[in-house]
Amino acid sequence: MKSFTPTRYHLQNVCDGDEFTDAGWTLEKPRCATPSLVRTIYEKKQIDVKPADWGIYRFADWLPVRRMLRGSAAPMTYKSEELARHLGLENLYITFSGYFPERDCLMTTCSFKETEAYSVCGRLPDENRQVLVVASAGNTARAFAKVCSENRIPLLLSVPADNLDALWFEEPINDCVKLIAAERGGDYFDAIHLSNLALKSDRFLAEGGAKNVARRDGMGTTVLSAAHVIGQIPDYYFQAVGSGTGAIAAWEANMRLKGDGRFGDTQMKLMVSQNHPFVPMYEAWMQDSREMLPYDDALARSHVEEIDAKVLSNRKPPYGIAGGMYDAVKASGGQVLWADNTEARQAADLFQQLEGIDIHPAPAVALATLIKAVRDQTIDSTKIVMLNVTGGGEQRFKAGKKLFYLEPSLVFPLNPDEGQVIEQTERLFA
Ligand SMILES: Cc1ncc(COP(=O)(O)O)c(C=O)c1O
Repeated sequence: MKSFTPTRYHLQNVCDGDEFTDAGWTLEKPRCATPSLVRTIYEKKQIDVKPADWGIYRFADWLPVRRMLRGSAAPMTYKSEELARHLGLENLYITFSGYFPERDCLMTTCSFKETEAYSVCGRLPDENRQVLVVASAGNTARAFAKVCSENRIPLLLSVPADNLDALWFEEPINDCVKLIAAERGGDYFDAIHLSNLALKSDRFLAEGGAKNVARRDGMGTTVLSAAHVIGQIPDYYFQAVGSGTGAIAAWEANMRLKGDGRFGDTQMKLMVSQNHPFVPMYEAWMQDSREMLPYDDALARSHVEEIDAKVLSNRKPPYGIAGGMYDAVKASGGQVLWADNTEARQAADLFQQLEGIDIHPAPAVALATLIKAVRDQTIDSTKIVMLNVTGGGEQRFKAGKKLFYLEPSLVFPLNPDEGQVIEQTERLFA
């Protein structure tokens, strides 16, 4: 029998170091003039990792959660043999989030977005009466829909209509989950805009994206899983990024692991990647600019259309904010890299051939940059490399199954009327 008590923690504002209590759903320090993330400071400095049947909550000592929800799975880390040999890496560890039964990884929405969904929803206060709102290009929506449906948590999802085929499920989704969409031709940015309009109503609660400590600490479990299996903090961390939230989370998990004292004091280099030609963080990084550079709207949209890894198409990532991507990559001594569709497709094929499972386009981008880094000798092949395979096993999972799709209750134009969005979305939860 698992006995669970809410995790004890408080919050710290990154830009000024101020510490304060979580009012329940605090996303930033009130009245702080500088854009800044807040971080969790956990009471327990040494993590006690629970048995695997706790799912993601095996890492609950370092998750800001009040309750444990049903149906979760944790990321799984294993030492690669075939791919490692092929690349000439002595210590390649793969952290897999998805469906890979041979490796005991059973995330049925097939991406690491499940880690954040179980953490965020586990943070919701019991007395909450608002409807949680999440905007997504696909994987996040699928993860939140599953978690909220299975645990009967009211949820409003906002997704671009072009990405609706990402909303497949093994079972029908409960009525407590409603979907709205930005019409065809729109992207993730339009879905965010739509959700922001709905959020003007106090019926709704913003999930908060990168600002939500539960989201980041949920994603940080990938690094906790790796350190737990390896016994030490990796030297390099490869991940494909759209918002970069996962990489910021990795950096924060690295700090906690150093504080734990049992995993060494390595500063893991964040080797983050984008899918060329959509590379706004790469451009800013190469100019050593804390601000994102101007990116023409029409050009950005056409780049999004070109890339395979649509989930990496975030035009407003938490890059310059204190404690965000710029700070994380800089402090870690890492780099921002890119790979194009051809390189990523070859990498995915290689992974399938050598590791025996299909992977999503995003982790294929990460693997392609690892392949290039080895080829160009920009990393030391004897060091510990963690490849964060952020999504995979989807083809395996879907094979031979009848799938259910979540249909939008409402589809809005790209320049929606605020009043109509509020009125119509409120009515969905009447
Ligand atoms: C499979 C997959 N990999 C990587 C990413 C990028 O994640 P991040 O939010 O850390 O940029 C996403 C985002 O949706 C994703 O779905």
